[in-house]
Parts: sequence; C-alpha cells; structure tokens
Amino acid sequence: MLYLIGIGLNDEKDISVKGLEAVKSCDKVYLEIYTSRLACDISNLEELYGKKIILANRDVVEKQAEDTILKDAEEGDCAFLVIGDVFGATTHLDLWTRAKEKGINCEIIHNASILNVIGVVGLELYKYGKATSIPFENENVITPYVMFANNQKIGLHTLFLLDLRPDEDKFMTIKEAIDYLLRVESKENKGLIDDNMVAIGCSHLGSKKQVIISGKLKDLREKDYGDEPYCLIIPGTMHFMEEEALELGGK
Ligand SMILES: C[S@@+](CC[C@H](N)C(=O)[O-])C[C@H]1O[C@@H](n2cnc3c(N)ncnc32)[C@H](O)[C@@H]1O
Repeated sequence: MLYLIGIGLNDEKDISVKGLEAVKSCDKVYLEIYTSRLACDISNLEELYGKKIILANRDVVEKQAEDTILKDAEEGDCAFLVIGDVFGATTHLDLWTRAKEKGINCEIIHNASILNVIGVVGLELYKYGKATSIPFENENVITPYVMFANNQKIGLHTLFLLDLRPDEDKFMTIKEAIDYLLRVESKENKGLIDDNMVAIGCSHLGSKKQVIISGKLKDLREKDYGDEPYCLIIPGTMHFMEEEALELGGK
C-alpha cells in the first residue's frame, strides 16, 4: 500500500489526523525534500510521527523509486510525505501513476499547498491564471514572462514560483525574480512590466515566519523577506475588495 500524504507548509503539526494515522501505521516513511522546505526540523516530524524518516531527493523519487518507495509499497505499507499538498508540484503525479501501473493500492491524503495558501495575500484564488516557475538558469528562458503576459491580457493574477535547491541551501530570492522579469521585459520590449508595477513578495506562507510585502517592483527588490521559500505575485485586474484586502495582507 502506498500512502501519498501532504503534510502542509509549516511544521509537524500541519499533518491531518487521517495523515498521521496513516503514517503511524506504515513500515517505511519517506519525505520528499526537493520541492519545498518546512519551518521545522525533520526531528520534529520523527518525534510526533514516532517513525524514522527516509529523506528522498529528486533522484530517489524520479530515478530510484522502483527500488525504494515502490518496492516498499509492494512489500508492505509505505508513506510518501510531501511538503504542502501531494499535487502541489508536477513531479508527484508521476510517482502515483507508476504505483498504479504496478497494481499498488494507493491512498492520497491532501493538505494545504502554496497554490491555495496564497489566498492570504488578499487576491481571489478564482482569479489566478497559470502559475509559472522561474528557474535558476534563465538566461534564455521567457516562458514565465509569456505566461504572465497571457494572464495579464485577461486580467488574471500571476503566481511566480521561484526555483529552489534545498539540498544546496539555494533559494531564488524575490530580488532575483524581479531582476529576471525586468531583464526579459527590456529584451522583449512589450511594455508589460515596469518597475512601478505593483506586486507582492512572500516568504514562508502558512508559518509564523510568513512575510507578505506589497509595493512597487522597484521597492520590493530591497525588502527583507526573512527565511525561504519565496514566491512573487503580480495582480491582474483587482476588485476594490481585493485592493483593500491586499493593503491589510501584511498586517
Ligand atoms: C513546487 S512548489 C510547491 C510544492 C508543494 N508541494 C506545495 O504543495 O506547496 C514550490 C515553490 O512554491 C513556493 N513556495 C512553497 N512553499 C512556500 C511558502 N510556504 N511560502 C512561499 N512560497 C512557497 C516557492 O516558490 C517554491 O519554490
């Protein structure tokens, strides 16, 4: 049996009761550690769950799953823990599909994801367009800019997810993301982004460390957002209630 369990964005206590019961019943417990970072230590999870946690990087999940996670799920009960929600990152759909192809029984236990926790900044979740990721190696990458342009055209908000390599302690900052967008704008010259545009820089949403700062791009670059992970939001057309909520968002 394979349990795919979202453990939320913050600490050991964000797991659901159903998720905790499943983890406690498992022989093996894996935690994927390459798509996000919690605001607590792994030892906090181990203490609450009463289980030793096996850390799974991208290689383990995408290349070695047959000999690790899927093998353990065929031989007994195995939990695969995901920070946020199981489907908050593109990569875990693949593990679920492969498990089902092998005839392994699967149960998904959901949790909050960055994709819905951003509601806290005050913009309607229903009015977001495609979310887009800005990668570290972005010299010739324009997809995030194009996605933004498409969302903006129809008045939708854009969530930019910022690249991260937690195993190297490397997280793209809000400043790097803004610099990237302004650089692409200066190359593409479509007049879509300028540094007076309003945006929202966020860090560690869903935790006590969360920071939400809205303002002009040029001012957001230099702010202190504290601990990673970070994301950037550029609003589309705002209802006056969203504008009001945005003003109160960081307070
Ligand atoms: C692949 S996504 C999220 C995966 C996770 N499974 C989920 O459901 O939230 C990872 C990106 O989301 C953003 N992110 C994740 N957690 C965040 C948080 N608590 N605060 C701000 N941004 C966050 C960062 O930009 C990070 O690079």
